[in-house]
Amino acid sequence: MAQESASQQFAQLKDLDALHHLHPFTTHSSLRSGGARVIVRGEGPYIYDSEGKRVLDGMSGLWTTAVGYGREELAKAAYDQMLELPFYNTFFRTTHPPVVELSRKLAEMAQAPLNNIFYGSSGSESNDTAIRLIRHYWALKGEPKRRIIISRKNAYHGSTIAAGSMGGMSHVHAHSYPVYDGFRHIMDPYWYGEGEDGESLEDFGLRAARVLEDEILAIGPENVAAFAGEPVQGAGGVKIAPKTYWPEIQRIVDKYGILLLADEVITGFGRMGTWFGSDYYDIRPDIITFAKAATSGYMPLSGIFVHDKIVDALMAHNDDFNHGYTFSGHPVACAVALKNIEIMERERLVERVNEFAAPALAKMLAKFKDHPLVGEVRSVGMLGAIELVADKRKRRRFAEPGRVGLMCRNHFFQNGFIMRAVYDTMVTAPPLICTQAHFDEAEAVIRKSLDQTLNDVAGEIAA
Ligand SMILES: Cc1ncc(COP(=O)(O)O)c(C=O)c1O
Repeated sequence: MAQESASQQFAQLKDLDALHHLHPFTTHSSLRSGGARVIVRGEGPYIYDSEGKRVLDGMSGLWTTAVGYGREELAKAAYDQMLELPFYNTFFRTTHPPVVELSRKLAEMAQAPLNNIFYGSSGSESNDTAIRLIRHYWALKGEPKRRIIISRKNAYHGSTIAAGSMGGMSHVHAHSYPVYDGFRHIMDPYWYGEGEDGESLEDFGLRAARVLEDEILAIGPENVAAFAGEPVQGAGGVKIAPKTYWPEIQRIVDKYGILLLADEVITGFGRMGTWFGSDYYDIRPDIITFAKAATSGYMPLSGIFVHDKIVDALMAHNDDFNHGYTFSGHPVACAVALKNIEIMERERLVERVNEFAAPALAKMLAKFKDHPLVGEVRSVGMLGAIELVADKRKRRRFAEPGRVGLMCRNHFFQNGFIMRAVYDTMVTAPPLICTQAHFDEAEAVIRKSLDQTLNDVAGEIAA
């Protein structure tokens, strides 16, 4: 009886959701007719829906819950801070202990000259901050013409108009009315999609990086402010640059004296088996943007690490940088971030990714490379992708990009492992705490789901 009324309540919740809640990046007509899944609880790497179904969360929420769900310590850190000081702003020469402690901690964790942190509450905000700061820096340096930021096609830097303009997704641009001026987009380092017949990964990496130099020369170096890139393109389909790419980008950025912005909203806080993706690729950004796993998603917090030379330019001028958010350095979010980092250090999660979890994920995904539906599998750290194609020998995609990915995504959920579909590329970013048993569980679901998808599209697959 009690169970029946709970399921009635959830059915009502679904109806109300469809009536009143506008979801991000969603086809609203289909949501209204089909309703959303109601997720009610999380524990470790699992989520539970309103029907009692337990699902292994291969997307860490949204590239976010690094330490998994249900961590009492994080709830307690938030509770204690709410009682002590739930909010105060950091605008008018005021500060508070959690923001100071977190800033000191982050400065210790990042590469040496990135000693300064500015806070926000989302990755989009932190990229907006970075865009403004980059342009402000060049104005302060007496080079106001340097405004153009070069980014990459299919990059995702967020959904505000500035961050969406810096990103390189055409479907986001289509809704920006219009895209802001001052951004250029070069090819992404996506060998499987862009590499030419017979071109090695290494050669392709160099070619993709050198497009940056061509673009700088075409625009005029005196007009270029920065290059922005995610160390690994996440929402664009977990596109992993060849080894030759980032060193060449660093060389070009150094040669023309432009700033390097690393968007580490996904790659920050351990996902690559290093604290930051910049450490993994050994690049030296002037600004790093972060969000998501800084708190494992238990509270919204984002920010940017800023190089001393940029702060020196601010210091040399006696006026405001007119920018900030009410929730910049929110005390509860900072307290949770501190506790989240403490947990990651205590449990050696970053080392664990490097030593165990990343190789285990890679090994598990590699088992699917011969599946008839799979064009390529790739992974780095705790990021992975499986490309679904109609003809694996010719790298031919399916008609109507995204259709097959969606079918596959639904099988995944039904079978108990969440992977996201980026068109027809299935991507995963599991929590950093996953054990071998979790990878085995994921493997069984992937096998079943790929076979079911193959069955759905059997007539479209090349023999
Ligand atoms: C690399 C990257 N940058 C920025 C963002 C935007 O973050 P938010 O959704 O918190 O605004 C995302 C979101 O997924 C991201 O993946």
